[in-house]
Amino acid sequence: MAMRDRLGMRDACVEDSAAIAMVQAKSWRTTYQSIAPQILEDVDVHQWAAAWSERLMEATSNRALLVLEGPPGVIVGFAAAGATRLPGEWELFAIYILEEFQRRSGGRWLVSEIVDRARRSGAVRLAASVLSQNPSVRFYEALGFARETAGKRLIHGRTVEETRYAYPIDPGPMWIEPDRNKASTGDP
Ligand SMILES: CC(C)(COP(=O)(O)OP(=O)(O)OC[C@H]1O[C@@H](n2cnc3c(N)ncnc32)[C@H](O)[C@@H]1OP(=O)(O)O)[C@@H](O)C(=O)NCCC(=O)NCCS
Repeated sequence: MAMRDRLGMRDACVEDSAAIAMVQAKSWRTTYQSIAPQILEDVDVHQWAAAWSERLMEATSNRALLVLEGPPGVIVGFAAAGATRLPGEWELFAIYILEEFQRRSGGRWLVSEIVDRARRSGAVRLAASVLSQNPSVRFYEALGFARETAGKRLIHGRTVEETRYAYPIDPGPMWIEPDRNKASTGDP
């Protein structure tokens, strides 16, 4: 497991499903209570744990589910991302860190690892949707995500605004093929 700032990061495994769902539920409460409390009606730890477990059982290279550990063995955050239907696009579907472990660069670390995974699978952009009132919009902006669109969404009868961000993934240096002519003809 990679370690930084006394946090650890690793790929999630099926046994982590319940802990991931618990972090998600706790983080939803602290994040949305003041900005969109109606969304909390959707919190269902058992159903979420089952969904994460199902997802973790299908191994695939075009998605990532990473966890952050605070004390060793204790999951305090996670991020889930994967390819969308748009060619070259990955989306950060979820990123949640318990309040007491926020602002220790864990979010930045998770996103940078996801960008690396997305790049390796050939993606050129990482998209993310955030409720516009969520202070974490500043997290995306600090990391270099650009604001693309904003739109209204209805959640349990109340309208919220959602902002769509995208991060341009640098494809890395171009691979230059060795000069085959020189190597194969033997010409001076
Ligand atoms: C959003 C979240 C994942 C960010 O992770 P984090 O570990 O707290 O953030 P980092 O420490 O990596 O922050 C990197 C930079 O982003 C910016 N940033 C992060 N959170 C911020 C906030 N609430 N307000 C303003 N700027 C913020 C800062 O510039 C920060 O750098 P700094 O701490 O050196 O000033 C985490 O705070 C979280 O889980 N929040 C609650 C859930 C949530 O809103 N998830 C996103 C749903 S779309």
